[in-house]
Formats: sequence, C-alpha cells, structure tokens
Amino acid sequence: MIIPLQPTGKAADAPDLARAPAEFYRQPGPAHDSFGRRINYLRISLTDRCNFRCVYCMPEHGAHFAPRDELLTDAELLRVVRAAAQVGFEKIRLTGGEPTIRRNLLAIVAGIAATPGIREISMTTNGLRLAELAQPLRDAGLTRVNVSIDTLDPDKFRRITRGGDFARVWAGIQAAERAGLTPIKLNTVVVRGYNDEDVVALARLTLERPWQLRFIEMMPLAGVGELAEQSVVPSAEIIARLEQVYGPLQFVGWFGSDPARTYRLPGAVGTLGFISSISEPFCATCNRMRLTADGKLHLCLLRDNELDLRAALRGGASDEDLAALIRQAVWLKPWGHGLPEGIKPTLRGMSELGG
Ligand code: 5AD
Ligand code: SF4
Repeated sequence: MIIPLQPTGKAADAPDLARAPAEFYRQPGPAHDSFGRRINYLRISLTDRCNFRCVYCMPEHGAHFAPRDELLTDAELLRVVRAAAQVGFEKIRLTGGEPTIRRNLLAIVAGIAATPGIREISMTTNGLRLAELAQPLRDAGLTRVNVSIDTLDPDKFRRITRGGDFARVWAGIQAAERAGLTPIKLNTVVVRGYNDEDVVALARLTLERPWQLRFIEMMPLAGVGELAEQSVVPSAEIIARLEQVYGPLQFVGWFGSDPARTYRLPGAVGTLGFISSISEPFCATCNRMRLTADGKLHLCLLRDNELDLRAALRGGASDEDLAALIRQAVWLKPWGHGLPEGIKPTLRGMSELGG
C-alpha cells in the first residue's frame, strides 16, 4: 500500500486508509502514524465535568455534560489502557474536566500503574482537591502533576475560574510538592484583559522554586466563543514583557515531544515554558492522542476526527480487536491542526478533551 505523505492536515485523514486490510492493523511492534511519528502518549479525560468554569474553557452556563451511561466505566477504561500499552503507549495523563472529581480515582490510578508497559502516569488538575489527594495519589502510583494557575491574585483568580478559591489551590500545589509529585509544572493560559499582566508575578515563582511555569496560548475550542478569537496573547509578547522586567531570558531547550519551549529567568532555579500552539505550532513532534470520557479516541486536539472505542468495547471486541483499533486510530492521526487554513474544531470543548 502506498501512503501519500502530505503534511497539510487534509492529507491522510484518508478515509481510504480506513479500508486498509485488517491485518495491517494487527502487526506487532509500537504504533506509528502515517507520517512516521511514534505515538506513545495517551491523555485520558476521566470526566467532562468540572468544579470550575474557566473563561477560556467552559461557558458560564449551559455546558453540555455526557449522561453517565455514555461514560466509560472503570473496567472499560482499564481495558483501553491495556490495549494501548500493547501497541506501545507508555505514558498516560489523566485530565478532565477535572480528573479529581471522578469516582474511584485512586483505584483507577492504581490500575493504570499496574498495567505492564506503562512507565509514567501524570495528571493535569485545577488543584482544588490536591491538598487532600496529593499523598494518596502518589501512593496509588501517580508520578507528577500539572496544576492550572492563571494568576496569584485571589480576586482575579475568582474571575477567571468563575468562582475558584486561590488559597485552596495554592495549598494543593504545596501538598503536591511535599508528596513528591514532581517536577511541579504550573499551567497558565494567558488571556488578554484577564491575566496578561500577571505573567510577571507568576514567572517570579521560578526564581526560588524548582517549578516550571508554562504560559499557554489560548486555543479556539468549542464553548469559548469570541474570547479565543480576540484575546490570545502570543508567546513573543509575554517574553517581551518578562524581559523588560527581568532582563534577557536564557533559552534552555525544546525537548522531544514536549510542546513547551523552555527558558530560564537569569539566576532562577525553575524554568519557564512557552506553549505556542497558535503562533508556532509543534505538530511535527506530536506523540499523543486523547481518550474522551465517553470513549472516543480523539486524534488531534484541534480537529474533530474521532474513532469510537466505546462502541467496540460494548460490542464485544476482544483485546486484540481493541489493540488493532487503537493502531488504526494512530494511523489515521492527522498531520496537524488546520487553524491557518481556517479549519477549527467545533464538536468538543477543552473540558471534554483535557488540554
Ligand atoms: N486554550 C489553551 N489551554 C486551555 N486549557 C483549557 N482551556 C484552554 C484553551 N482554550 C488548559 C488549562 C489546563 C489544561 C487542561 O488545558 O490551562 O491546564
Ligand atoms: Fe475546569 Fe480545567 Fe476547564 Fe478550568 S480549565 S473549567 S479547571 S477543566
């Protein structure tokens, strides 16, 4: 079979490829996509619900939530993880919505940790429940956490998260550090008019702490509306603002499939990361796919393409069938997002995809 290599994104989204002979997806060895990228990182949304309503993620009212019977059960989820590990997935990240509000969270973490082939389990959380959960999560096998924090000002924090309690999140971050869920990474989505000035104080945290502060360009997912059109702050602007205060940033590196370009403030212990999905896409080194809470493999964060694993799970698929389907999804993974061509994701919000 000849696969056209067209790094345009329209390319091998290839309905034709779906007609590849079944054996094609049953070969041994780690899964690669049709562009030769090794895909070994699965981000699992444990729930589409959240105890915050961040302005860049969810609408204030009327968010749509999947009914319970559409969500993967714990057992279904662990089957998917086993099948993914069979085709070479090694890293898992638990996201949401807010992953810490999923029932049986600790048992799920322990089940994933016990899966042969899985080397790392991390979590992206808003931190609200971390103060009590950090140590139990660590004991269950979690390796580290990313915590979202968009400002150090409790009033602005409440405004951005629509009601979030800064003090509890801050206590959660400290608890995560004490529990050894390190290196601690903090995620800041920079939104003009909300927290574009706060990057200075946030970056200052790295002077004395071995944390990575990551500044993320807001992406236009469903449910955010106009904000994502008008209020993106490009990384270059953040860097300029920081350099005015701290002097030239030192470039540390851009490592493998980590989307963050890493810098350091002069003399700092920690680092700064810039995730510039809009101004400088990093699709070429993509190594990941997403599993939604309702059991779809979502092939690219910024495209709508999905493959339905829940239907297979509930339709009696064997472990080998599941592994073949995951390999097929990897093969069908689009090259990258289509934002430059005006193609935007429309189906799902970030709270269903978990970043
Ligand atoms: N653009 C970029 N990042 C986002 N996040 C949520 N919504 C957006 C968006 N529209 C980030 C949050 C969180 C992670 C789950 O995704 O900061 O860290
Ligand atoms: Fe919840 Fe995270 Fe979305 Fe904020 S960004 S509403 S904390 S899922």
